[in-house]
Amino acid sequence: MNMLIKGGTIVTAVDIYKGDILIEGHKIKAIGSNLVETGSEVIDARGLYIFPGGIDPHTHLDMPFGGTTTKDDFETGTKAAAFGGTTTVIDFCLTTKGIPLTDAIQAWHRKAGNKAVIDYSFHLMISEMNEEVLNELPQVIEEEGITSFKVFMAYKDVFQVNDDTLYRTLLFAKKHGALVMVHAENGDIIDYLTKDALSKGNTDPIYHALTRPPELEGEATGRAAYLCGLADSQLYVVHVTCAEAVKQITDARQRGLRVYGETCPQYLVLDQSYLELPDFEGAKYVWSPPLREKPNQQVLWDALRLGHLQTIGSDQCSFDFTGQKELGRGDFTKIPNGGPIIEDRFSILYSEGVHKGRISLHQFVNMVSTQNAKLFGLFPQKGTIAVGSDADLVLFDPDIERKISADTHHMAADYNPFEGMTVRGQPVSVISRGNFVIRDKQFVGKAGSGNFLKRKKFQQV
Ligand code: URP
Ligand code: ZN
Ligand code: ZN
Repeated sequence: MNMLIKGGTIVTAVDIYKGDILIEGHKIKAIGSNLVETGSEVIDARGLYIFPGGIDPHTHLDMPFGGTTTKDDFETGTKAAAFGGTTTVIDFCLTTKGIPLTDAIQAWHRKAGNKAVIDYSFHLMISEMNEEVLNELPQVIEEEGITSFKVFMAYKDVFQVNDDTLYRTLLFAKKHGALVMVHAENGDIIDYLTKDALSKGNTDPIYHALTRPPELEGEATGRAAYLCGLADSQLYVVHVTCAEAVKQITDARQRGLRVYGETCPQYLVLDQSYLELPDFEGAKYVWSPPLREKPNQQVLWDALRLGHLQTIGSDQCSFDFTGQKELGRGDFTKIPNGGPIIEDRFSILYSEGVHKGRISLHQFVNMVSTQNAKLFGLFPQKGTIAVGSDADLVLFDPDIERKISADTHHMAADYNPFEGMTVRGQPVSVISRGNFVIRDKQFVGKAGSGNFLKRKKFQQV
C-alpha cells in the first residue's frame, strides 16, 4: 500500500519546510502541500521533523577482533541502528593476506544477507598490495559495487600495513574511482610504547590511552594526507579524535586536497578520564584511537561546524563488559577495542549538537546522512528527501527527553558507554524503502529485509 505522510517538517541538508510526502513502493513519489491520494495509508507527522534516514559509514558487525567477536551481528546491530534513526550502514569487510578478496566479500554477504533489517554495504579492507590484489580489485569496484577501501596504519602484526601498501592503494583508488579510508595512528611507535608500559607493570586501562598519544594520530594523519596528495587521490580519515589530527586534515584541505574526516559521538562527549574508572570499568571506554583530554571535544565540534570534518560515524564495534572487555584484566593490550554506539549516534549528535546550539539542523542532516551518501556513492538514492529517492525516512520528535541506558537499548552488548546521559529528541518511527522498521517506537521490521547496496564510484564533494 502507498503511504502519505502528512504535516511533518521536512528537513534536508539544505531545506526546511512543512509538507506531505507520498511514498509509492520503495520510493518517494511526490512532495507537496495538501497532497491527497486515495488508497494510501495516511501517517500524521504533525509536530515531528522528517529527516532522511541516517547513514552510518563506519560499523563493525559480527567481526572477529581482539581474540573475540563483536557482540552485535547484522541482526541486532541493524535493528538497534534502526531504533536510532539509521537506515543504511556501511560495514568493514575484513580480508586476509593470500585469500582472494571475493572470498572475503562472500563471507561478509553470508553474515549480513539473512539478518540485516535495513540496507547495507561494505568497505573492503586492504591487507596487502600485490599483483593478485591489483588484478582482483577492478572487479570489486565494477561488479561488487564496493568503491571504498580501508587501510589500517595501526594494530601492528594484526591489520597494520606499511606505507607502500597505503600509497599503492591511493594510486589504485585514483585510477579506478574509489575512496581510501585510513585508521591513522602510528602503529610502530604504539607497539614500542605498549611493550615499554607492560615491561614496567603498567597494565591498567588508562595505559591504553597513554601509549597512544595524540601526536601519533596527528603524525599518521599528516603522513596519509601527504601520500594522498602525492598520489592525487582521495582520502577519508576515520574516527578523528584530537586537535593534532584535525590540524592535519584542515591543512590538507587548505592545500586543495580531497581529504575528508569523520569523528564519532564518543569523542565529542567522553574524555580520557573515563579510562581511569575503578574496578576495571575503564575498559568499557577503550577505543583506538583512545578518548582524549577534554579540550579536544571543543576542537572537534568547531571542526564539524566549520566543515573541516564532514561526517559522523559510530565505529560500532561492541563487546560485552563481562567476558569480553574482561579479557584485558591485568593487560590493557588484551582489552578488545570498541563499543556499542550504533543506536545513539543520531540522537547524541542531535541533542549535543543541534539542541545545544553547536551545529545547525542542516549540518546535522549533512553529517549523519547526506554527506555520507555523497562520499560513498549512494546519493541521491540515499541521503536526502527528494522525488525518486528511496523512501528512507526518520520521523523524529524533538521534544522527547530520555536517558540512555543498557536496560533499554537494543544493542546486544551488556553496557552502554553513555549510561545515564539525557538526550533530547528521539526517532519515533523509521521507514526503510517505504516500509516501517520502527513504528511508534516498536520494532516492526524483518531480519533479511535489508538490501545490499552496490555503490557508485567516488565523486568529489
Ligand atoms: O576501537 C575501535 N575503534 N575499534 C574498532 C576497530 C577500529 O579501529 O575502527
Ligand atoms: Zn580504526
Ligand atoms: Zn572502526
